[in-house]
Amino acid sequence: MNPERIQNEGQINPARFSIKDSVRYMFGEQRLLFVLIGITIVALISNVVVIPSSSQSEPISASFQVAVSTSVPRRIAYELPTRNFDLVNAAGARIPLGLKSKSLRVLVTGGSGFVGSHLVDRLMARGDNVIVVDNFFTGRKDNVLHHLRNPRFELIRHDVVEPILLEVDQIYHLACPASPVHYKYNPTNVVGTLNMLGLAKRINARFLLTSTSEVYGDPLEHPQVETYWGNVNPIGVRSCYDEGKRVAETLTMDYHRGLNTEVRIARIFNTYGPRMCLDDGRVVSNFVAQALRKQPLTVYGDGMQTRSFQYVSDLVDGLMRLMEGEHVGPFNLGNPGEFTMLELAKVVQDTIDPNAKIEFRPNTEDDPHKRKPDISRAKELLGWQPSVTLREGLPLMVSDFRQRIFGDLKEGGSSMSTF
Ligand SMILES: NC(=O)c1ccc[n+]([C@@H]2O[C@H](COP(=O)([O-])OP(=O)(O)OC[C@H]3O[C@@H](n4cnc5c(N)ncnc54)[C@H](O)[C@@H]3O)[C@@H](O)[C@H]2O)c1
Repeated sequence: MNPERIQNEGQINPARFSIKDSVRYMFGEQRLLFVLIGITIVALISNVVVIPSSSQSEPISASFQVAVSTSVPRRIAYELPTRNFDLVNAAGARIPLGLKSKSLRVLVTGGSGFVGSHLVDRLMARGDNVIVVDNFFTGRKDNVLHHLRNPRFELIRHDVVEPILLEVDQIYHLACPASPVHYKYNPTNVVGTLNMLGLAKRINARFLLTSTSEVYGDPLEHPQVETYWGNVNPIGVRSCYDEGKRVAETLTMDYHRGLNTEVRIARIFNTYGPRMCLDDGRVVSNFVAQALRKQPLTVYGDGMQTRSFQYVSDLVDGLMRLMEGEHVGPFNLGNPGEFTMLELAKVVQDTIDPNAKIEFRPNTEDDPHKRKPDISRAKELLGWQPSVTLREGLPLMVSDFRQRIFGDLKEGGSSMSTF
């Protein structure tokens, strides 16, 4: 350095200091190296402070947004985990432990079947995380296809007669073939229900059993109240279903009384609607499919036996109210409007084909003479009652059947799963 410009060692005369001198000064005695090390240390410290305030799984752009802005990025705000983790939200504020997110994790066994798939639609619309477990015996992937790409939805092929371990808050247990054609070949009620109750107990989930009006058998009381114990043939052709559901109810109450498992029991009466299995031996689906195919409507016996028919959306509403409510049940869920088989055939004729013929066949064994729910308990304690009449609901089902029968003849010819 120029001795004239430096008065003492390390001391510079600012008045006479040129750019060339300052560059020389920076490179002298490794000063630049020390400056770079300093910058690196500052950068490291500020990174340690920024990282925890964004979700670990968020892309780098999201972290950057958090660092430069105090507003909560949309994605992070909507995708907070659902359980009781000690969270740090995007704005850096802590969410205390024990504060549950509104979004529930719900297991629906039999969720790709008729009722199950409509229930899944409603749970998904509510924002829940839904897992469907189904062996596709009578259910179809088609029924839940529209959810497959949604990250809140999972579909597992599994038979509930085998145990399964999942983490959920609620279990809707529907898995069980519900039509006479199918349940004779696959009576899953007892073992399947036992497995699902075991799961509910283990993970402390609330369990809802979809039982049936069949537990009343051929009833000696009319209409049927929940306190009626029923009139069931324990060794008849239908008993694998009737008695299977009765045992399922017993197991459910035993888990509740003996092991404090939170349970709910619904006794479902005849339900109809879109996505019912074609040709499965249930009277509404039989009549509708026959009328559309220009076949005679088959009436078993004299056609004077009665049933009540509820539209599926009413049932789903009742099931969800029961699950969310405080009462164990059992609750009758059905439409009290009572129709003879001949009256039902008339409604089908009026809706689809006034010229449809009626063909009488000998009645099946143990067919109940009458069925009509008393729904006073559900009205009073769940605030529930059906709102869709048969004449309103039937056309909604007919358009779905028409599309499946004539839009895809292969599927229309089989009542079993297409997968
Ligand atoms: N639909 C009605 O009128 C009615 C009336 C009374 C009770 N219920 C009850 O409601 C529930 C649903 O009935 P649905 O009408 O939707 O019947 P469904 O046959 O359409 O649905 C049953 C579902 O369970 C699945 N399933 C059957 N066995 C299984 C097993 N072992 N493991 C896993 N999945 C299995 C089927 O593949 C199907 O997806 C049933 O428990 C039924 O007993 C229905």
